Amino acid sequence: MNKKEKFVAKTFAGLETLLKEELENLGAENCQICNRAVGFEGEYDMMYRANYFCRYALRILWQVHQFNFRDNKQFYDAIFNYPAEQILDYNGTLAVSTTMHDAIFKTPLFAAQLAKDAICDRFRDKYNKRPSVDKENPDVQFHIHILRSQATLFLDSSGESLHKRGYRVSAHPAQINEVIAAGMVKLSGWNAQCDMIDPMCGSGTILIEAAMQALNIPAGFYRDNYGCFKWKNFDRYTWKKITDEADILDDVPITLYGFDISARFLGMAKANVKEARLSDFIRLSRCSMQDSEPKNRPAMLIFNPPYGERMEIDNIEDFYHEIGDALKKHYTNCTAFIISSNIEAIKNIGLHASKKYTLFNGALECKYLKFDLYQGSKSK
Ligand SMILES: C[S@@+](CC[C@H](N)C(=O)[O-])C[C@H]1O[C@@H](n2cnc3c(N)ncnc32)[C@H](O)[C@@H]1O
Repeated sequence: MNKKEKFVAKTFAGLETLLKEELENLGAENCQICNRAVGFEGEYDMMYRANYFCRYALRILWQVHQFNFRDNKQFYDAIFNYPAEQILDYNGTLAVSTTMHDAIFKTPLFAAQLAKDAICDRFRDKYNKRPSVDKENPDVQFHIHILRSQATLFLDSSGESLHKRGYRVSAHPAQINEVIAAGMVKLSGWNAQCDMIDPMCGSGTILIEAAMQALNIPAGFYRDNYGCFKWKNFDRYTWKKITDEADILDDVPITLYGFDISARFLGMAKANVKEARLSDFIRLSRCSMQDSEPKNRPAMLIFNPPYGERMEIDNIEDFYHEIGDALKKHYTNCTAFIISSNIEAIKNIGLHASKKYTLFNGALECKYLKFDLYQGSKSK
């Protein structure tokens, strides 16, 4: 039997449970929820599987070393002893990041520099050459988590954050993070049995993530680069075998509708949907939320209106009031999920939320609320 490895999948606060379930479904073992992360175990190829299939993970870290230390020298020696040459070439590049809680080092930067010196000194001793530092795009990104006198050394197998799916060719000033959008779709319970509508779709992120889920398109399907591709031990054959496990469904009868008041933003959605090759499933048209209505009922609405942070709105309270009116007037027998960081403005929707989640869209703490819209929908 192959050796079991330890990994950590990072995510946003509020998505840990979804990520744990997702990892378990992929075959991960001993999944443990941590703060904005899930620890898990599996054979080495589980790391490839998590990178390619996890919708709710931001990055996958491989735990390669864990040790206790009392002083700088013990810390340096333990890092020096890690055989980094198995992963990194002496002509290659590296970067070291650290997180630290209650440790002996004055700053995380000092610990990172000491670790970088230890790794490079090992190369110099062995080969008389050493890798160079590239903070932007290293061949190997080391990450060290230090908790008091215990240090854990990880290699970041994802490289760029996994929210960068590879379908975004056009960036919206207030686009929602793809990992959050995927989580919103999952939390909504939309099961592709009814139409899905994003009445303020911007660049189309929520629609694309919803279509990907319904059609079983892996999160990494459009992406062609991962951190571990540059490692010396990268196994192209195993990567191909794992990505071939994807079972994409192309005959699911789904229709998703996206509206936006802005022609420019709608153009962005069109470009992204086309890049994702989802134009057969996602219909986009210019329309204000106030004038929009569903083609079929019931329908599921999932959207993030402007919060008044990155997109200015003249009177945010009135604006949310109009959203509530449009929901009551045009979307009877539908369900709406709305995410917003503007807690005060949300109150103006004037409907009773039947479910409430707290999620983070990047650094912004948001409420994600469910409204059941039936005839004579209950005002608050
Ligand atoms: C926060 S952005 C949505 C971003 C989108 N989820 C994405 O990932 O790109 C809000 C969008 O609502 C649109 N919008 C503002 N007022 C609207 C209205 N009355 N009807 C429809 N869309 C509106 C804006 O043009 C903007 O694209």
